[in-house]
Amino acid sequence: MPFDGYFDYNATTPVCDEAVQAQRLAETEFANPSAKYGLAKKTKEALALAREQVARLINSNSDEVAFTSGGTEANNWAIKGALAAQGAFGRRAEPAHVIVAQIEHASVLEAASYLERIFDCEVTRLKPDAEGKVSASAVAAALKSNTRLVSVMLVNNEVGTLQPVRQIAARLRERGIHFHVDGVQAVGKIPVDVRELGMDTMSFAAHKFYGPKGVGGLFVRRGVRLEPLLHGGGQEGGTRGGTEAVASIAAMGAAAEATQRMLPEMLLRLSRFRTILRGLLVERVPGVSFNGPENQDAQAPNTLSVRIAGVRAEALAALLDQMHGIQVSLGSACSNNKRAALSHVLLAMGLSEAAIRSTLRVSIGRYTREEDLHRFAEATAQCVRALQKIGNGVNHERAAIA
Ligand SMILES: Cc1ncc(COP(=O)(O)O)c(C=O)c1O
Repeated sequence: MPFDGYFDYNATTPVCDEAVQAQRLAETEFANPSAKYGLAKKTKEALALAREQVARLINSNSDEVAFTSGGTEANNWAIKGALAAQGAFGRRAEPAHVIVAQIEHASVLEAASYLERIFDCEVTRLKPDAEGKVSASAVAAALKSNTRLVSVMLVNNEVGTLQPVRQIAARLRERGIHFHVDGVQAVGKIPVDVRELGMDTMSFAAHKFYGPKGVGGLFVRRGVRLEPLLHGGGQEGGTRGGTEAVASIAAMGAAAEATQRMLPEMLLRLSRFRTILRGLLVERVPGVSFNGPENQDAQAPNTLSVRIAGVRAEALAALLDQMHGIQVSLGSACSNNKRAALSHVLLAMGLSEAAIRSTLRVSIGRYTREEDLHRFAEATAQCVRALQKIGNGVNHERAAIA
């Protein structure tokens, strides 16, 4: 099986057959969708169809979906565009205040730092609780008279914690504050209904729901004002300049439709698989525990943040790859010993450096089979034993820090 060693679905997903087919079809139609002649009809139609398919997946109107180059652009656009539309970068006497969660993706955190550096915005970075959740009351408590924007993700990419977006949206609506949600790890993985959740903008990326990389979009609620991030030829109803990536967008639409069809069954299967995987790991791997919510309903069903006491996750991941052809990520992007390189998510949740260095992020998906879970658990047990035997990859610093 081509994907039997793949346990990194939160990094990206394989491209599904429906997306590949749609991409091929759209590639044969080359006309610029902005052209007025008849040849452009097919490419215009491909964009319109994809917009409807994505809108159905998130329960929005199709005119509320704008295409981008992915999640990073969509997050940057929502944050900078919403503030610009409110005149926050002009000659205002009072600098704008922005609230983000500490566990956000770099595309949100870095955009916030940029606003701070270049536009003198005041940024509050909210600390989550030990399970990685930012509460609506914590957001409400951080609001100021000049708060112009709050950005909180729907599902965290490292531990899978679901955030109380509906409750946060309700608090912010009362005050007329723009609420942006990074939905990149949520759309396609859990049911997402923008009507019910009530945010103003939400980003998504096709490559997290079995579409191609380099394409995604932003849900912009009707009536919400955003300045463009990319100024240009007036595409996307004047909201984003640049000729649309028609073939990739068509593929994203097809992936959205397939995902929507499969989602109910996937949710059940992946929750069951996660329970099985937890059980297998507890049974076979000494010192294993899990970061994130106790209550598994508070976590995306495909994600497990696995901690193995005393074992260096970086060495374990390398061994799993080399010896067993298993691909898995670290809970942290650490490649050296600098504290700054540790996972900012796990740090914000209050984990020690040793605990973070012992954490693997395991994420499963559509092509994971039950037997793959057994192979993963067995391979992990073997690699942990090997590492313990040679004393290599063990967290020597653990005792000093804990
Ligand atoms: C939560 C989250 N937001 C944003 C992004 C960025 O999306 P993209 O890779 O499409 O730019 C990612 C990608 O890993 C993500 O996990």
